[in-house]
Amino acid sequence: MAKRKSLFDLYKMRDAGEQIAWLTAYDFPTAQFAEAAGLDMLLVGDSLGMCIYGYNGTVPVTMDQCIVHSEAVRRGAPNLFVVGDMPFLSYQTSDADAVLNAGRFLKEADVDAIKLEGGVRVASRIKAITEAGIVVIGHIGLTPQSSGQLGGHKAQGRTADAAKLVVEDALAVEKAGARLLLVEAVPPEVTAYIKSVLGIPVLSIGAGPCDGQLLIVSDMIGEFQAFTPKFVKKYANVAEVSINAMAEYVKDVKARSFPAEEHFYKMIAGEEDKFLKLMKN
Ligand code: KIV
Repeated sequence: MAKRKSLFDLYKMRDAGEQIAWLTAYDFPTAQFAEAAGLDMLLVGDSLGMCIYGYNGTVPVTMDQCIVHSEAVRRGAPNLFVVGDMPFLSYQTSDADAVLNAGRFLKEADVDAIKLEGGVRVASRIKAITEAGIVVIGHIGLTPQSSGQLGGHKAQGRTADAAKLVVEDALAVEKAGARLLLVEAVPPEVTAYIKSVLGIPVLSIGAGPCDGQLLIVSDMIGEFQAFTPKFVKKYANVAEVSINAMAEYVKDVKARSFPAEEHFYKMIAGEEDKFLKLMKN
């Protein structure tokens, strides 16, 4: 029987120089595909607000939505390292709220770790959650929940002063007890520096080479239509495949060529005559 990937396994991969492959997933079938494809980690990102629910951003996403989707992902990928993403206002209010909500992910969805956005400003939250025995992944650089303050979904750390702030966030996250760090949308020079000064594995989404990479599944399979960030590589065009399939279906239904003989259930032999007689009486 396959064994679930652990934090220890991820550290071993980093130490052996093996890249960690990480993807978001929001539902059961995608999680099954991810496990079959050989992913190491899955993030049930609050990006589900945009990718699944069609919101403009991640701010409206609730804890209950994150839990339901994390449960589905865990059922689909029993052996991957699954990470629950703390949605807006699930940890900003207090250390106590942060611990309770992080704990929900473990108790209700059996995730392996939680991720939260921010560096210096959330250090006490990371410390409190870690002290409760929960594995925390920090997320710095572009942090979508505070994109309003950052002036939109923009790359971070592009000037020397801004890069220094990103490094300070990285150091604060590690010092507070996070066991992995995700860096989003910063230049590779800044990520390389962070990697050189941190002891924990550093993963990247749009932040250049690192100990591993994360992409949003809806972007990389070509499903999410609103926009595609610069750092995304599209590996498929699921939107095109789905639209073409649906258009074919519409054509078949209108032309009465679906359903065809092979899609019908057959009556048990001899039952058709009996049925017709029965209906006459
Ligand atoms: O919600 C998410 O998918 C994320 C990634 C953008 C890192 O947090």
